[in-house]
Amino acid sequence: MQTLELPEPTPDEKQQSQKLVEVIKQDIIEAGGWIDFERYMQLALYSPGLGYYSGGAQKFGEQGDFITSPEVSSLFAQTLSNPVSKLIEKIPDTNIIEFGAGSGKLAADLLRALQKKAKLPEKYFIIELSAELQQRQKDTIRQLVPDLLTHVQWLTKLPESRVNAIVIANEVMDAMPVKRFRVKNKNIEKLGVEIKGQQLELSYREADENLTKKVDALGINRNEYAYVSELNEHIKPWIKSITQCIEKGAIYLIDYGYPRSEYYSEERHMGTFLGYYRHRSIDAPLWYPGLQDLTAFIDFTEVAEAATENGFDVDGFTSQGNFLLNSGLSEVVENTATSSEIERLQIVQQMKTLSLLGEMGERFKVIGLSKGLEENVPGFEFRDFRYRL
Ligand SMILES: C[S@@+](CC[C@H](N)C(=O)[O-])C[C@H]1O[C@@H](n2cnc3c(N)ncnc32)[C@H](O)[C@@H]1O
Repeated sequence: MQTLELPEPTPDEKQQSQKLVEVIKQDIIEAGGWIDFERYMQLALYSPGLGYYSGGAQKFGEQGDFITSPEVSSLFAQTLSNPVSKLIEKIPDTNIIEFGAGSGKLAADLLRALQKKAKLPEKYFIIELSAELQQRQKDTIRQLVPDLLTHVQWLTKLPESRVNAIVIANEVMDAMPVKRFRVKNKNIEKLGVEIKGQQLELSYREADENLTKKVDALGINRNEYAYVSELNEHIKPWIKSITQCIEKGAIYLIDYGYPRSEYYSEERHMGTFLGYYRHRSIDAPLWYPGLQDLTAFIDFTEVAEAATENGFDVDGFTSQGNFLLNSGLSEVVENTATSSEIERLQIVQQMKTLSLLGEMGERFKVIGLSKGLEENVPGFEFRDFRYRL
């Protein structure tokens, strides 16, 4: 099993995880002996003070469990600043709203790049639920762009009144809890967690009518021999809440995922759910809850439906590689001053990681949504794959 090759967590980490296990067990007992996987994932990632995102785990970067595009290189934010600055020019009194800002690296780099173009937004709002991450973001911004710290305002929910805004969320939807299900003997079963002996254990139960209906609507062939997948029911309400607070503006959502027909294809019969610990992927979600990231790919058709249902236009859908190249990545690289050949090679390598097929450039997708704009949001001029949604 994969978990045998994983680095051993420290005694402190194990103790922290054990506290979370007790919280989860209590939740299972209160629920009558079984909770569905979505509830488990909610607790494992977001239990106050103990969950993966709400506790003190390092998470991002080389010392953490995974590396996101803003952490790979400042090229990501510098390139994103091109379409964002064009939008800032067109939308009066524009704010930027970034969801789940991680270490704060994207915010710091983007603000610096926009300042250089003299295109700073009115305010840069960060919506961050975790107090620990808010503090980390403040530290990063204070360290990298101290003069721009007063431009940033942290919120735990969207502004009450409508604003003009450009919303950015990189790898946020993949951290939302998902329901997991399988097709067995032509029936739909729902994955959950129970207590066996003293241990947490995964177990399936017959799916309720609601889930069965939703799964059937995805077009999955019930005759499949073995089919496992997942369903993210948080995307639609989340997008609805964003669209409701925007008067005029744009939304860029960047994440790994597929259009629905590819997501729920027979070829992807093992689903897309995975855990991450110290840069290794794990297919063992009960292994030290709170120490590993838990994540699933995004059904971008769901995102597009949510946008149109709420009065937004879907202006573009493409791979991260295409989006960055459309947004001027090559020029950003050419204009990056380097002091040695090694540094230049590093920059070129970062560009490749962000944009190439087989790297983050292909797995990650970008969808651009807008409301009240005369032209489509920039970044999708070539190779727009909206027709696949
Ligand atoms: C994989 S991390 C990505 C961090 C960062 N955006 C980056 O690219 O480095 C996912 C983040 O999304 C946040 N998140 C998930 N759901 C959210 C929501 N509904 N509102 C705000 N943040 C959310 C998590 O708390 C976590 O910080």
